[in-house]
Amino acid sequence: MSLVKAGPDVTVIADHLEVPGIGFLPVNAFVLHAAEPVVVDTGLSLPDRDFLARLGEVMDPADVRWIWLTHPDRDHTGGLFALLAAAPRARVVTTFLGAGIMSTERPLPMDRVWFLNPGQSLDVGDRTLRGFRPPLFDNPATVGFYDDRSDTCFSSDCFGGPMPSAELADGGEAADVDPDRLHAAQLLWAAVDSPWVAVADPEKYLATVQPLREMNAARVLSTHLPPATGLTGRMLDTLSTAPGLDPFIGPDQVALEQMLAGFEPGVPEAA
Ligand SMILES: [Fe+2]
Ligand SMILES: [Fe+2]
Repeated sequence: MSLVKAGPDVTVIADHLEVPGIGFLPVNAFVLHAAEPVVVDTGLSLPDRDFLARLGEVMDPADVRWIWLTHPDRDHTGGLFALLAAAPRARVVTTFLGAGIMSTERPLPMDRVWFLNPGQSLDVGDRTLRGFRPPLFDNPATVGFYDDRSDTCFSSDCFGGPMPSAELADGGEAADVDPDRLHAAQLLWAAVDSPWVAVADPEKYLATVQPLREMNAARVLSTHLPPATGLTGRMLDTLSTAPGLDPFIGPDQVALEQMLAGFEPGVPEAA
């Protein structure tokens, strides 16, 4: 994990996972230093990650007022309950479905929840955060937002892409990646994370990309991409080609056993 600034208003709590055969997938959370501070997602749910301690290097967790949970997948909820305990005035921005999904493992305290649907806004003192549904998503509770003051789009899983190195995933800039490589990485991630896009009606899908063109944010902060400044138009062109992508097919059992044999000599072969 590392801490990186993305403009004057945002600190990235950068982390990553190495995915065999795919690359180094960034897993970011963000601190938006608004008048009412906002933490956007809370990192991986792995036992060796201490999100709260990392956040404590950025700000006093007790001062956090909002935890914007872009969706309740486990790479976004790692530090959620520890932060709720440490930040008594914080509320979790999510949806009815988001709270419902959380209730299947550990329910959110409903008096700490703030329901916000795409199209609705949140006033955080010195700016307004406008919720939107990104064109690509893997969870029906997904709500990203646009911060009108920092001209930043927080896009949740959308725009993600595995990086060629841990260094890039954990503190680089998307602009440091060769454009062709970034294009390929974002389409790979689209096929992995949003396989439905392969069968999406292109016209209807493109109508969901258009609001982001109109937003035209100076910076895009995705959970699964290093900060992307000045790349919005190019990245939207990439995402616009997603319908019709070949779906991602993961390794099968034969491939798994080959991998295991490579890692651990002595694993018995398939019968
Ligand atoms: Fe997700
Ligand atoms: Fe994710």
